[in-house]
Amino acid sequence: MAFLSWRDQYRVGVEHIDREHLFLFGLINGFHDRHRSGADTRELQSILNDLVQYSEEHFRHEEETMLENDYPTLSAHCALHEELYLAIFRLGEELAADSSSITMDTHRFLRNWLVSHILTHDLQFADYLAKRSAEQEKRDEAARSAAAGKREDEARSTAATKGEKQTPIAG
Ligand SMILES: [Fe+2]
Repeated sequence: MAFLSWRDQYRVGVEHIDREHLFLFGLINGFHDRHRSGADTRELQSILNDLVQYSEEHFRHEEETMLENDYPTLSAHCALHEELYLAIFRLGEELAADSSSITMDTHRFLRNWLVSHILTHDLQFADYLAKRSAEQEKRDEAARSAAAGKREDEARSTAATKGEKQTPIAG
């Protein structure tokens, strides 16, 4: 069983964000598995470097999607990404200075590093997107009924005009 298993509850519902989260899970699992199988420091450092680089890219993609969707707490979310990035960047530095610094706590830290951010903060963005899309749907529905109402009024008024023209003049 993988150290970090993907669950449906982690889904944000934006295809590229979920795909990138899944990829980060893979890197964290790889780091854990290779450490357990006795990989040397260089290999572990290389996986951690990938994790640092890929998270930076992923955070940027996520922030772009938030910006496109007018996410009101974007700047607070960016600050959290910055903290997350610094945390694994420092981990990389610790590992470079002392290869024995990796313990089970390091792996637990990495697991929480990602999962708690997804569950607490990224899923708030998912809620926001769901609400936004429901509100948009309501507005579209209101616009459709207003347009249908206008068409009915126009049809009635045309029929009335024709009716007037066809009414024979009495007398
Ligand atoms: Fe995020």
